[in-house]
Amino acid sequence: MIRKLPQEVVRQIASGQIASSPTAVLKELLENSLDAGATEISVKVENPFNFKVVDNGCGIDYRELPLTVERFATSKIRDLKDLKQLKTYGFRGEALHAISQFSRLTIKSSREGGTGGKLVVRGGTVEEYTPVPYRKGTSVSVEELFFNAPVRRKAVSRKERSSLLKLLKTYALSNPSVSFSFNEKVFPKASLKERIHQLFGREWELLEVKGSSFHLLYSRERKGLRFTFVNRRPVELPEAEKLLEEKGIKSYILFIKIPSELVDPNITPTKERVYIEDKNYLKEIEESLSYSLNLPRISAVREKREIEYSVKPQLIGSDGTVLIAHDPENYYFFDIHLIHERVNYEELLEKLKSGEIPTVELLKEVELPIGSEEKLKRLGVGFRVEGNTVYVEEIPEILNIEDIKELSRKSVESVAELACRRAVKSGYRILEFKELEELFERFLRCRNRETCPHGRPIYYKMKKEKIYSQLGRKLKVPKSW
Ligand SMILES: Nc1ncnc2c1ncn2[C@@H]1O[C@H](COP(=O)(O)OP(=O)(O)O)[C@@H](O)[C@H]1O
Ligand SMILES: [Mg+2]
Repeated sequence: MIRKLPQEVVRQIASGQIASSPTAVLKELLENSLDAGATEISVKVENPFNFKVVDNGCGIDYRELPLTVERFATSKIRDLKDLKQLKTYGFRGEALHAISQFSRLTIKSSREGGTGGKLVVRGGTVEEYTPVPYRKGTSVSVEELFFNAPVRRKAVSRKERSSLLKLLKTYALSNPSVSFSFNEKVFPKASLKERIHQLFGREWELLEVKGSSFHLLYSRERKGLRFTFVNRRPVELPEAEKLLEEKGIKSYILFIKIPSELVDPNITPTKERVYIEDKNYLKEIEESLSYSLNLPRISAVREKREIEYSVKPQLIGSDGTVLIAHDPENYYFFDIHLIHERVNYEELLEKLKSGEIPTVELLKEVELPIGSEEKLKRLGVGFRVEGNTVYVEEIPEILNIEDIKELSRKSVESVAELACRRAVKSGYRILEFKELEELFERFLRCRNRETCPHGRPIYYKMKKEKIYSQLGRKLKVPKSW
């Protein structure tokens, strides 16, 4: 006998694919916060069944709160035409509905200057809907997840917590200008390169190539990173991943940027598969990779870059804030302040490593277990050993006790870098041309010429062609420079 399913069952089945696991739920909440234009997103995870996402995005008006948990209700698209030019992660209007079917969902929110509100829905039933004062933004908390879906609850593995963190890192990677936190871990707003360091550690040394439709950071040496994004959406894209593998790439972060009308994100409800009709982007990646093989390493995230400029830029001058230089094809606009910081930082690091920094005597000796003597020596730390204890007596003036303690856990390099980053001063003042030249020479000897020690980009580069064409001139690139 064929029977119509009760509404409740229909709703659960329909929502099944979206709220399939705690990680899938968190994904929807993060996407909502990003779609709301949040610049700060904080995630608090008590356990995989109880967690909360708080953002400072646009918020929801009190009167619209109940709509958020209605199925197929969305503020993001109005018709099929909008779907073709999608700029947001969400568009189905299904997620909050689905989550509210399987948990106790509490949304608190307010728009700027609007009435704040609170909505509590448990297993699809509204338990509370009241106006409450709230600052601009939204807090969504999920409790008792899968209380009414025992099989699903059982299927949550012990690894779920790390999968939640991994998910947050994925979104943090493609949205570096947004601050994220995960319990006590904080990833402040940063440049992309600094974000990579925040998320995966400073050891990563990645090469970089860019084209009009993609931006790729990769390593042929080290395994561990595999991320593909299409218009900031984390996706699986077997065609691109296969190509990278064939090129001997072991780790990659690939950002593909394609006009949204050429991408169809609507293949699966969870949106992790997309379809890209135009395969030109693949060709572009392939060409850039073969091309960059013949070049010196163009630009690495990490410092040990061999050559960054294919030719050495020459100084034109400065207005006191910006230093301008050029090579046959480009103009470079450097922030002098940041150049100073970079130069001082690297010179300080050299000095620290070669023991040229003056030491100070500690008022009270610090005791450490034996084991780090080699490292202490390399940094010019004065100590003596008695039995199983190392007594630290003297340390270079830019290190502190915490640095010394860190040495048992971290490498000399990372401790030295941290200390120097703290100690760096810019020594900024208006410079004569001769002094500028000297500073620029010192800068060109730096290992990293991309960012200041705190991760800010040092320069902005512009193609000469752009300016020349404005002046109605053709750029002739000289053979020798
Ligand atoms: N964090 C948030 N900030 C502002 N509005 C939100 C937030 N989360 C959800 N919303 C609103 O609730 C609606 C429904 O969300 P959801 O069910 O995830 O569907 P979708 O994201 O596909 O629109 C969104 O369209 C949006 O208007
Ligand atoms: Mg959504």
